Amino acid sequence: MDEERLGAHAWVPTDATLTALRAAAPDCHGCELWKGATQVVFSSGSATARIVLVGEQPGDQEDREGEPFVGPAGRVLDEALAAAGIPRGDVYLTNAVKHFRFTRDSHGKRRIHEKPGVVHIEACHPWLAAELDLVKPKVVVCLGATAGRSVLGRTVRIGAERGRTQDAPALASSGVLVTTHPSAVLRLRGKPGYDEAFDRFVADLIVARDAAES
Ligand code: URA
Ligand code: SF4
Repeated sequence: MDEERLGAHAWVPTDATLTALRAAAPDCHGCELWKGATQVVFSSGSATARIVLVGEQPGDQEDREGEPFVGPAGRVLDEALAAAGIPRGDVYLTNAVKHFRFTRDSHGKRRIHEKPGVVHIEACHPWLAAELDLVKPKVVVCLGATAGRSVLGRTVRIGAERGRTQDAPALASSGVLVTTHPSAVLRLRGKPGYDEAFDRFVADLIVARDAAES
């Protein structure tokens, strides 16, 4: 059997606490992404949060620091959370894929983000499933299509589905809301459409906030 395609199951402790999950994650060889990355980036935030935000995968800076959303996309997320009246301390922040996937530029120096494939999303899913099972939030916010694919287990079209809560077959106690990824907003910075994209992102987060409070 190809060990690189086994998925994370074998490394995810059962009946564990969040602390135990976090402690076990650095050993994961559930797909090949651990090989190129600096370290696993697990999660941050409150274990009793009513809102879980799921990103795609750590970026360059997250890979170096070991914390999710500490780079440029994280700053957009911080601004949007503040604008939506959601204290960052009130959310649990994680990613669909826990290791940074990248290619190198032609000089072999700069690391260029590469989207995780469905194999990586599926391989890493046991970690996210275990996190959601422990935190049991009222709302899971999927930041982008990768998070949507992982949480809902199917292809997600952001444009068609964003900004409303929906049920997820695999999640008994949580609603799911799909929205854009903050890096998609970031790409528009300094260009026409940035304000609209940011405001729409904030509006989606407010829907999640209200659902979490109800
Ligand atoms: N983008 C993500 O999806 N997650 C991070 O942690 C950082 C950037
Ligand atoms: Fe394990 Fe996920 Fe890292 Fe792959 S990306 S090695 S499944 S933690």
